[in-house]
Amino acid sequence: MQRHIDPTAPSNYSPLSQSQRRVRANLSQPGYKGEWSGQVQPALVASFVFLFCLEACLWVRNLRLKRRLPGPFAWPVVGNAMQLGQMPHITFAKLAKKYGNVYQIRLGCSDIVVLNGDKAIHQALIQHSREFAGRPNFVSFQMISGGRSVTFTNYSKQWKVHRKIAQSSLRAFSSANSQTKKAFEQHYYSRGHGTGAVRSVYENFKNLNEEFFSFVKDKVVQHRESFNPDVTRDMSDAIINVIEHGKDKVLEKEFVEATVTDLVGAGQDTMSTAMQWIILLLVKHPDIQAKLHELIDKVVGQDRLPSTEDRSNLAYLDAFIYETMRFTSFVPVTIPHSTTSDVTIEGLHIPKDTVVFINQWSVNHDPLKWKDPHIFDPSRFLDENGALNKDVTNGVMIFSSGKRRCIGDQIAKVQVFLFTAILLAPV
Ligand code: HEM
Repeated sequence: MQRHIDPTAPSNYSPLSQSQRRVRANLSQPGYKGEWSGQVQPALVASFVFLFCLEACLWVRNLRLKRRLPGPFAWPVVGNAMQLGQMPHITFAKLAKKYGNVYQIRLGCSDIVVLNGDKAIHQALIQHSREFAGRPNFVSFQMISGGRSVTFTNYSKQWKVHRKIAQSSLRAFSSANSQTKKAFEQHYYSRGHGTGAVRSVYENFKNLNEEFFSFVKDKVVQHRESFNPDVTRDMSDAIINVIEHGKDKVLEKEFVEATVTDLVGAGQDTMSTAMQWIILLLVKHPDIQAKLHELIDKVVGQDRLPSTEDRSNLAYLDAFIYETMRFTSFVPVTIPHSTTSDVTIEGLHIPKDTVVFINQWSVNHDPLKWKDPHIFDPSRFLDENGALNKDVTNGVMIFSSGKRRCIGDQIAKVQVFLFTAILLAPV
């Protein structure tokens, strides 16, 4: 039953105290500005000014004593969150022009180091790969794959084993495996030329993770019940085989569900975004689209659909895909890393357990590395004979680098190739 409160009623009829009723009564007076407003507002302003001065003094002192990396002034409470805008990777690149390729920002109460440009990122992820292989201890990271995710857990002996198992299961079903290639081809053929619906908005991160994880768990239970060690039907079987029936049982069986969730989850949003960009760029550049149609017509003909075997003869198509990855940099910043020990990059000291953002976009748009980086031009990836130039394609950074490099890169490239080739085929 709804309870109505009348602030003017006698105290024995009201659940409010006398002072509460007085405030309520005052609130109903026209033009009332609040008994407290005269005291609270100056107190709030004073607190903010105090915090600001304290922050500014600490910032100047730490900068002078070289206790902190260069970087923009961080506001109390929010840090630099308000400055990042809708495209943080562009802001990061702009800040790099002012503070250098290695600098520090603050988000909330976390200090974050941002790495930009080919040189600093290579130094960190390749030359100091172990020191940059950690993941931060974020609460959100523990919600994924029941807290046993290979992607979101920190660097440890167990993580290394887990990643190796995930990699080997994936390899067994990757482009090297002819059955998988056929499976992918069938998958795209059966979808015809449409892209299918793309679930692009995650309304509720936690619920979705739980929902997805429980869906995968059910599938794994079904796989376990019908498991036959002599027949590997799919990746779930391969993972069950290694983790539960392998010689050294290094991981508990709960890691099966987590690994399947990781591998299925990692490819969802990334692949659909890649495909959306491919379509957008084909529409934006009809001349390139016409060239690709002509090439596929010549190489594949009109009687069949393209397959992975055609790839070596479709260099311009691969060049178009690499240019899409470079130009859009659709995963502009990697998943946050964290340092596993103290480390020095470009002469700057970064302490252990620092959160690190790696700006892939800045590598793909570095004017020292790419001629006219703002122009979409697939031919930059072809040599004088029209073949794919591997030295140039290796310069694109979309799957990250080092110990945390994406393990689905090969499978992703095959899928994007097939999707685009079949989309453009006349059949
Ligand atoms: C075009 C598609 C894809 C792109 C652009 C992409 C990109 C990335 C990036 C940027 C990372 C983060 C690396 C880092 O933090 O430094 C990553 C991690 C990862 N990706 Fe992908 N990915 C793609 C598709 C896939 C697919 C299809 C799979 C699996 C079948 C996959 C599996 C993973 C896994 C397991 C990790 C975590 C690696 C780790 O933390 O050690 N990815 N990916």
